[in-house]
Amino acid sequence: MTPVRAVKGMNDVLPAEARRWQQVEAAFRSTMERLGYGEVRTPYVEPTGLFVRTIGEATDVVEKEMYSFKHRDDELTLRPEGTAGAARAYVEHKVHNSEPITRWYYTGPMFRAERPQRGRYRQFSQVGAEVYGDAGPACDAEMIDALMRFLGDIGVPDAEVLLGSIGGPETRASYRDALVAALTPVASTLSEDSQRRLSTNPLRILDSKDPRDRAAVADVPKLDAHLSDADRAHFDGLRRHLDALGTPYTVDTSLVRGLDYYTRTLFEIRGAKDKLGAGSTLVGGGRYDGMVKELGGPDVPAIGFAAGLERLIIASDVAVAPATVDALVAPVGDGAVDAALVMGRDLRAAGVRCEVDARGASVKSMLRRANALGARVAIVVGERELAEGAVDVKDLASHSQVRVNIDKLASAVTETLARPATTESAS
Ligand code: HAM
Repeated sequence: MTPVRAVKGMNDVLPAEARRWQQVEAAFRSTMERLGYGEVRTPYVEPTGLFVRTIGEATDVVEKEMYSFKHRDDELTLRPEGTAGAARAYVEHKVHNSEPITRWYYTGPMFRAERPQRGRYRQFSQVGAEVYGDAGPACDAEMIDALMRFLGDIGVPDAEVLLGSIGGPETRASYRDALVAALTPVASTLSEDSQRRLSTNPLRILDSKDPRDRAAVADVPKLDAHLSDADRAHFDGLRRHLDALGTPYTVDTSLVRGLDYYTRTLFEIRGAKDKLGAGSTLVGGGRYDGMVKELGGPDVPAIGFAAGLERLIIASDVAVAPATVDALVAPVGDGAVDAALVMGRDLRAAGVRCEVDARGASVKSMLRRANALGARVAIVVGERELAEGAVDVKDLASHSQVRVNIDKLASAVTETLARPATTESAS
């Protein structure tokens, strides 16, 4: 029979690898909880219109990468990112009524039909955060600084912040006109995609990797020169706060991100270039002061970021100990299985990590399994010993063995676990 395989670009995470995920997720949660953020969990499926309205119709994500489908009368999409859903929830639950500043974080799968490669998948996971209600640059600086600490905690080398400002809506509009004016005369030299973008979303041309586009944009006016006084003051403020925090950054005036909702602050963090390639972004984020209003809420500013969890795991060097149990209960013969199951349950209740091997295997093979699991103790449950109310407790480090009454089993096991693991007999 033909085996069924996972969907291309959607990966299984087996337990040894999942331990690395848990470690990075735990470090992220700890970072965010210490900053006063609370976890938000929003649906994986949202109305398609939510993403079209926020991310923007003429973006790659909305044009090419969404998993959208019709179900009965609803147009639905598997969420390609978390910001739009979080903002929808913020508006839907009128959260602004109960708190002036809201700090949320999230973790979970996102879906984009991209061409799969290392660090780029069709189902991937993000850890991310959003803050609503604080327009000032100190908020942006604190977020970027916290991210750098988090990356340090999980051992990402050479993390580097790229910082830009895309200005407010007026700045965007005036820059867009300047860009179109500069690129129209050379439009025929642009890639096909960018020729189309010239009328739909010209800012995206700045982000193109195509060499024809790279050549054409080399001499175009820079967005920086179009920033309003208020935008510039915000950006300068952000830089001052980052300097005060001692967080290094590089200003990149050509930074444009792939989502249309951004206003003012944009940032990306790159790192682990040797493992991920030079262009690979670990974290992307920025301000999106207009989204809450666009979704029918009040005029509440917002900023956030998201990091690809798979990329963080590739980049980080957290050491993860293999999964292990403390003890293995090894029933010898069918008649010992029920008693072994009860012992396993009682040991776990006493705090012992414990597996029962009820396959009906030989003692030798069960002891081999106990060693492979890294167990310190094996409890051999023989039918004859059981009839006398006893079991054999083997210390696999010292190779000693004692016969123990079943009602003393938990204390015998915990005492063994508490002894240093020497190869000498402990008795
Ligand atoms: P983004 O730049 O589209 O921003 O994605 C953020 C991060 O998610 C990327 O830097 C990357 O690490 C990871 N990522 C994106 N696509 C993939 C993929 N196909 N495979 C693996 N990893 C991927 C956002 O999603 C915004 N919602 C960030 C944000 C939050 N802005 C404001 N608040």
